Amino acid sequence: MQYHVMTLFPEMILQGMHTSIIGRAMDKGLIGLEAVNIRDFAEPARKSRIDDYPYGGGAGMVMQAEPVYRCWESVTTRIGHKARCVYLTPQGRVFDQQLARELAQEEDLIFLCGHYEGIDERVVEEIVTDQVSIGDYVLTGGELAAMVVMDAVSRMVPGVLTNALSGQDESFSDSLLEYPQYSRPEVWHGKSVPQILLSGHHGNVERWRRDQSILRTLQRRPELLEKAQLDKKDRKVLQELLANAEEI
Ligand code: ADE
Repeated sequence: MQYHVMTLFPEMILQGMHTSIIGRAMDKGLIGLEAVNIRDFAEPARKSRIDDYPYGGGAGMVMQAEPVYRCWESVTTRIGHKARCVYLTPQGRVFDQQLARELAQEEDLIFLCGHYEGIDERVVEEIVTDQVSIGDYVLTGGELAAMVVMDAVSRMVPGVLTNALSGQDESFSDSLLEYPQYSRPEVWHGKSVPQILLSGHHGNVERWRRDQSILRTLQRRPELLEKAQLDKKDRKVLQELLANAEEI
């Protein structure tokens, strides 16, 4: 997976991404990252300015079409194809695990990070294939959102997670939240690890975890249960939980 991030703050992207699991994946060559400074494509007459007043008036400045377009052309020419271009904006499709999985299939992904009051709509129409929001709130720019998307997508790239199963057995993989986890010591601040996890009975542990996932999802994100793939036993557990509603 090769990421190409068009931004006014390349150092923010590079510093933010070169840590932990994603940093290691980059060192191993599983993930490549370049941050391209849109300012380098400013029109010479405007020195390095890439923003201007909005037509029609109003507060703030707008990123101009031409520097963004030239930046995109430089990336697509170098990589030899028009890769999917993701514009981070609160107006986009809300990012989720399904979209992370889908984007992880691509060889290259281009990200466009906006600042100021937005980007001239004409260049958005011309180069952007996906508009993506990371949630219903407004950030000062697209960089943090691009990093969130890259982090979630990278986990889905084969080899990035050393434990091959951990990408599957997690919150949202089948529209259920993850079960609670425990590690040593067995008793901490007077709280014991659930006995079943110490039993060594794999089948019972699996069932308990599944039940906990269903319970957590019901308590915290009940709307996810509509999409969850529940088998007969799962549905029975859910019915029992709903019948004893005071428990939740
Ligand atoms: N840019 C500003 N706010 C954003 C958000 N919520 N998601 C994606 N990009 C953004």
